[in-house]
Amino acid sequence: MKKIRIGLIGTGYMGKAHAIAFKTAPAVFSLDTEVTFEMLAEVNDDLASTKASELGFRRSTGDWRQLVTDPDIDIVDICSPNYLHKDMALAAIAAGKHVYCEKPLAMCANDALEITLAAEQAGVKTLVGFNYAKNPTIQLAREIIQQGEIGEVVHFRSVFNEDYLADPDTPFSWRLKRQLSGSGALNDLGSHIVNLAQHLVAPINEVCADSRTVHRQRSLSGQPDNQAEVENEDLIQMMLRFSNGATGSIEASRIAWGRKNGLWFEVTGTKGSLIFDQERLSELHIYQAGQQQARQGFKRILTGPEHPDYMNFCVSAGHGLGYNDMKAVEVRDLLQGVAADQPIWPDFRAAYQDHLVLDAAEASCREQRWVKIPASVTVAGSIKDNNKQSEQTTGVLSGRNPVGVN
Ligand SMILES: NC(=O)c1ccc[n+]([C@@H]2O[C@H](COP(=O)([O-])OP(=O)(O)OC[C@H]3O[C@@H](n4cnc5c(N)ncnc54)[C@H](O)[C@@H]3O)[C@@H](O)[C@H]2O)c1
Repeated sequence: MKKIRIGLIGTGYMGKAHAIAFKTAPAVFSLDTEVTFEMLAEVNDDLASTKASELGFRRSTGDWRQLVTDPDIDIVDICSPNYLHKDMALAAIAAGKHVYCEKPLAMCANDALEITLAAEQAGVKTLVGFNYAKNPTIQLAREIIQQGEIGEVVHFRSVFNEDYLADPDTPFSWRLKRQLSGSGALNDLGSHIVNLAQHLVAPINEVCADSRTVHRQRSLSGQPDNQAEVENEDLIQMMLRFSNGATGSIEASRIAWGRKNGLWFEVTGTKGSLIFDQERLSELHIYQAGQQQARQGFKRILTGPEHPDYMNFCVSAGHGLGYNDMKAVEVRDLLQGVAADQPIWPDFRAAYQDHLVLDAAEASCREQRWVKIPASVTVAGSIKDNNKQSEQTTGVLSGRNPVGVN
């Protein structure tokens, strides 16, 4: 049994989800690792101590810098607001820690590159929380696409809509301030779809985007006479051109009434189509050409034990998994990668490649034109063409297949 000691920073929505996943993953996947909940950091000592006892961590601190340099921590897990990711990740890498960071990795591609190169030079393992790709249903979708079962992919149409800010009376938060969040719906929701699009289809070469902030002011702490300016977009839409010739679109909105976890996509190939809806996350709809005219239609596949990673959770098909289960798969990949010294997907480099697309989308909104995704910078400082599949994704860089990519 390899002992892996966790240091968790931030205990809001994601911090709790990660703590649950670190408890679930070893039980579900019978891992060869023993997880120790070593230390937790929050904004002050009191909150840290309360959360440590709630979530089962041995020690706590009100100073994250103490956590990242603690000699008894192997993995630093960053679940703080976006603007803190860079400093926390760089400090953890400098201390020789493996780093698990929530998305978006950074505020822009340059920062993501800086963190990526630091991690690659230090030789530490990294993983970014693009959990939707870990769903057995999405893994199945990728398998179907990779095996050519819907032919050559020609189109990817997707949305990620939620309504957590649809009510104009919802107060201001860090997510609405550029300095703390970066972009709005794009960083928060669109980043997941960009990651999925590149995972399922191919690297994105070019985007043309447009965005809008509908609710331009929000109250501070719910006091109506104390308003703050909303500094980033409520919704964004973009057209895509992929390196393999496919085209597509992404929409993301945080003000889409009624949409709670509305991540949806349709992949169209030359021989069929796939449809996925995250609000029905254990279902995949497939249409395959060649059916007799009078029997044509989409088939609904309910994920079950025959599909990747499902069996470990449940031996019966169609019983359905949940959001936290995807996090458990993600944490399984992290623990396996660290224990076996294998590359993990999606690592910081994969997130950097997503950031290049996010930056291009923002530039396109500003300049109202198509924007090409620049070539990415590799470890050696040389430039890599986006027309080729990610080295990290295909395992070429290390010569070994990354954990977490089927
Ligand atoms: N993967 C996903 O599906 C998903 C979903 C939601 C959020 N996220 C990402 O997770 C990150 C956190 O989002 P959240 O929704 O959990 O936010 P949150 O506001 O619920 O939690 C943030 C936590 O960080 C703590 N924190 C803030 N400053 C800190 C500091 N200096 N030191 C220590 N702790 C500090 C806060 O006290 C809070 O507990 C964001 O980057 C967000 O984009 C990912």
